[in-house]
Amino acid sequence: MVTNRTVTITDNTTGDTVECPIIEGTHGAPVISIKGLYPALGMFTHDPGFGATSSCNSTITYIDGDKGILLYRGYPIEQLAEKSSYLEVCYLLLFGELPAPEEFARFSAKIRQHSMVHEGMRTMIGGYRQDAHPMGMLVGLVGSLSTFYHDSLDINDPEHRVLSAYRVIAKMPTLAADIYKYHLGQPFNYPVNSLGYVNNFMRMMYAVPAEPFQISPTAVKALELMLILHADHEQNTSTSTVRLAGSSGANPFACIAAGIATLWGPAHGGANEAVIHMLNEIGEAKNIARFLDRAKDKDDPFRLMGFGHRVYKNFDPRATIIRQACHDLLGELDAGAQQAPLFEVAQELEQIALSDDYFKERNLYPNVDFYSGIILSALNITVNMFTVMFAMARSVGWIAQWMEMMVDAEQRIGRPRQLYTGAAKRDYVLKRDRED
Ligand code: ACO
Repeated sequence: MVTNRTVTITDNTTGDTVECPIIEGTHGAPVISIKGLYPALGMFTHDPGFGATSSCNSTITYIDGDKGILLYRGYPIEQLAEKSSYLEVCYLLLFGELPAPEEFARFSAKIRQHSMVHEGMRTMIGGYRQDAHPMGMLVGLVGSLSTFYHDSLDINDPEHRVLSAYRVIAKMPTLAADIYKYHLGQPFNYPVNSLGYVNNFMRMMYAVPAEPFQISPTAVKALELMLILHADHEQNTSTSTVRLAGSSGANPFACIAAGIATLWGPAHGGANEAVIHMLNEIGEAKNIARFLDRAKDKDDPFRLMGFGHRVYKNFDPRATIIRQACHDLLGELDAGAQQAPLFEVAQELEQIALSDDYFKERNLYPNVDFYSGIILSALNITVNMFTVMFAMARSVGWIAQWMEMMVDAEQRIGRPRQLYTGAAKRDYVLKRDRED
């Protein structure tokens, strides 16, 4: 909401000024609208990494990084994690409200209806090397949905947008499981729509034709929790990428593929994979100090993976919930006991880092990725699939943000400016006249 408060920006050399309106949201810091800056002063703002820049209006997710608060559509993540299901959270993120029973039944039927993928996509999977990174495959496969599902690509048709959203949510588990099976050299499983969303995914991941399939309710609960916690996180790097891609009018599958590519980086979703490698490398508590010294050494590119966050300068509530889930569920999961030593190293590392001045001064706390790999490993999910699991969970957030953007009257093509520091204008020199 535009307030009657303003900020005046003055060029102290020329004395020119501009009054910038202050806009307030429901929660959080107000923002200064700087649209009038260039016309009045002939200057842009400069904010590499967008640390101080709000890029859009959004009603979906709110984070208070100082207090460690995360809300989806106003509901605290702790309450959703305890009481909701992933599919219900999907509905909430997409449509803004918790569904009534009838609404939820209709929604889950729609998602089930779209759970299969075109057989041509399985042929595509066969073209990848068996040791291809699952995230590389996922980028390609999700982008390729646009070549198989032409009937939901009109971005200006609200029904097409919703159909694309259903397809993304419904097909991600099938694609993720197919990638996993291909990697293992096992036959693909088709979805069984009488099962719940998470059960169905786990069956596609783990069932083999030669054995009866059984999955424990604890495993389903653990994965459901992981999906809820990763479902959205306002304007993070991958979501901003989805919005930027969408701002050009690209189709939703192409936009989500761009988000997946961005999530893969170790500074973002790829950190969950990097954390497990790091914890394995640390191995025992006695080695922690050496790794902390490396993380503090500015000449060493090593960072403590799963630590630090652009927005959370207190704890990340998702990390707190996953740490507790490790305590509650590891003992009950098939491969949980094997993860217990790693969990101990992780907790010890957290304790030591949180009492270290370097981490205290910089407000570096464990983020969502710090403990998530321990749960995923306890579910027998291979490390190279961790970021795929993140992408599967986040696909609803990406598509919800994309849908919101498509009806935002302020939406324009995303096109940042730059501070040019290259060569001044100069004339072309013929090759023969150039000096060696
Ligand atoms: N280990 C050691 N030092 C760190 C770490 C870390 N994990 N994270 C930040 N720092 C230090 C920086 O070196 C910097 O120190 P300086 O002020 O002396 O130069 C200071 O803390 C601030 O860090 P920035 O890099 O400026 O913070 P930024 O907000 O740009 O980066 C990020 C946030 C990318 C998450 C960073 O903390 C990081 O690289 N963490 C490790 C990777 C990780 O876990 N990523 C997952 C994030 S959650 C998610 O995306 C799902």
